[in-house]
Amino acid sequence: MIRPMTESTTTFDPVELLGERFLAAIAAVAPGVGEGADPMISGSKRAELGDFQSNAAMPLAKRLGMKPRELAGAIVEKLDVADLCEPVTEADIAGPGFINLRLRADALAGLLARMDAPELGMPAPAEPRTIVVDLCGVNLAKQMHVGHLRATVIGDTLARVFERLGEKVIRQNHVGDWGLPIAMVTRKLQAEAGAGRLDLEALTLDELDRLYKLAQFECAGQGKGLAIVEKFGLGPKIEAELSAKHAEAMEHLAGAKATLVALQAHEPGVYAVWKRIYEVTMGACLEACGRLHTRITEAANAGESSYSEELRGVVEDLVARGVAEESDGALVVRLDAAGDGGIAEPCLIRKSDGGFLYATTDMAAVRRRVRTLGADRVIYTVDARQGLHFRQVFAAARKAGYATKPGASGPSVLEHAAFGMVLGEDGRPFKTRSGENVKLGDLLDEAVERAARTVAEKNPELGEGERREIAEAVGIAALKYADLSGERIKDYVFSFDRMLAFEGNTGPYLLYALVRTRSVFRKALEAGVALDYADAPIVIGHPAEKALALELLRYPSAVRGVAAALEPMRLCGYLYGLAGAYSSFYDSCHVLKAESEGLRRSRLRLCALTARVLADGLETLGLPTVERM
Ligand code: ARG
Repeated sequence: MIRPMTESTTTFDPVELLGERFLAAIAAVAPGVGEGADPMISGSKRAELGDFQSNAAMPLAKRLGMKPRELAGAIVEKLDVADLCEPVTEADIAGPGFINLRLRADALAGLLARMDAPELGMPAPAEPRTIVVDLCGVNLAKQMHVGHLRATVIGDTLARVFERLGEKVIRQNHVGDWGLPIAMVTRKLQAEAGAGRLDLEALTLDELDRLYKLAQFECAGQGKGLAIVEKFGLGPKIEAELSAKHAEAMEHLAGAKATLVALQAHEPGVYAVWKRIYEVTMGACLEACGRLHTRITEAANAGESSYSEELRGVVEDLVARGVAEESDGALVVRLDAAGDGGIAEPCLIRKSDGGFLYATTDMAAVRRRVRTLGADRVIYTVDARQGLHFRQVFAAARKAGYATKPGASGPSVLEHAAFGMVLGEDGRPFKTRSGENVKLGDLLDEAVERAARTVAEKNPELGEGERREIAEAVGIAALKYADLSGERIKDYVFSFDRMLAFEGNTGPYLLYALVRTRSVFRKALEAGVALDYADAPIVIGHPAEKALALELLRYPSAVRGVAAALEPMRLCGYLYGLAGAYSSFYDSCHVLKAESEGLRRSRLRLCALTARVLADGLETLGLPTVERM
């Protein structure tokens, strides 16, 4: 019988279990030194020597000034793994002090049987923590582009992982829906509608996007150009032309500022236009979020506008408590002291003209998320290029006490889950041929379109409706998986061909692996084989069976690993490995035609557990799945 584990150590992962036992042995051998040691458990390099090995003795012996083999011997003496491993003796110490371990087949079977429960080794915690995930973050009046794909997909996956672990998750869509650029387009729309050139009711996002750019252009001054003209004396004609243009832009800008004031005062005419912009943008955004199989809904909407009433109070509070100070007419929070984060650049919270900034809103957001929503951890899934901004905001919020829950002894964890860029095949930021951002909607359409062609090729017998459904799932899964399966911080090259391949570490491959794993049950039904495997004794004999068992047991730690490092790629890699282990198992072990009735039931149970882990993992990643493909 494997010893029961406490809640904090509900693991079925042999690597973690052995690690715990080694830690205890090391602590007993070297009290005071061994407690924090790394047990260094890894898969064995040489299968004939064992399944796992611990390399802990070598570095520790150095610290203790002992001979490594001697220390290894002492560890083995104190080691208590009889319920997990074949007896470990002197003979299992190899080379300079590696300790080889061979798992007992019955221990493996016992662990698997315990994991084979509805929660798959991840029971809900007694006291869930509150995790706020800042994701999506689109901007009003602009099309979603490929950058928002990452903020949406990675953010939602991280949120799902915490949900799977039983934590309380609150998604927050920090929509860029306030400030001068939004006032510019609001004013532009008002003018267009006033002149009868635009029907606000029929407004589309494309039209909005166009008018946004136009408004930006109109308000862009010619200051730089004028300076050049003057410096090089390019002549009075061009100077006059530019001057006139500049004056015109300044007029537009002044108008936009007035619109912002009106917007802030919720003046009905202006506010109604803004509301329309909001509806059109967010309608399209939430539609894309739905199509992307995310759990991002209207409930997550917490845009910059939702903080507009709080900004003055935040700034006053920071000034009153001496957290913010004046600098050249502006207000800043200094962060250069070591205790404040040692950041040279201060966090600007009010411009000299009195305007608030992106950081001011983010300060208010930290305060609401931690102090009102009760976040223990706030995770920001935002482009890596905003790294400095978040370091400043986090440090300033900590300095102001906004990151500490009422009554808590220390601040909650604020983390920037930064991600890299999406690149084109030429290695440069992914753009259309004309140099524009690629619209997210177009990208989804093309992925699905291409998936449909492959699906039709592989299954010519499918009806139109089913083919569409499958293609939608395969296309979306491919796109999301490509975004999730690399190291988050790295840039990646966007390639439809690569992401849609049915072989290799891709979304379609994993969807197909799930279909294949389930197909054995269809075959069993057809062959009239009883599906009475639910509580069959598990038998681990064949090496491929053992490899699959070991892989299955790692599932809970793979999911926890994502939560700890905020790296979805860990779960992707895990599922890919599991699919491979299943494939080898299925190739080398008969299931329906197993040598005995007991073996058949045991193997069916392994198949069923594999299918459940795969399905659970794909759902946790947020990939849509299919019944056939
Ligand atoms: N709207 C921002 C952008 O497009 C992203 C918002 C990120 N979240 C935040 N709390 N600042 O860059």
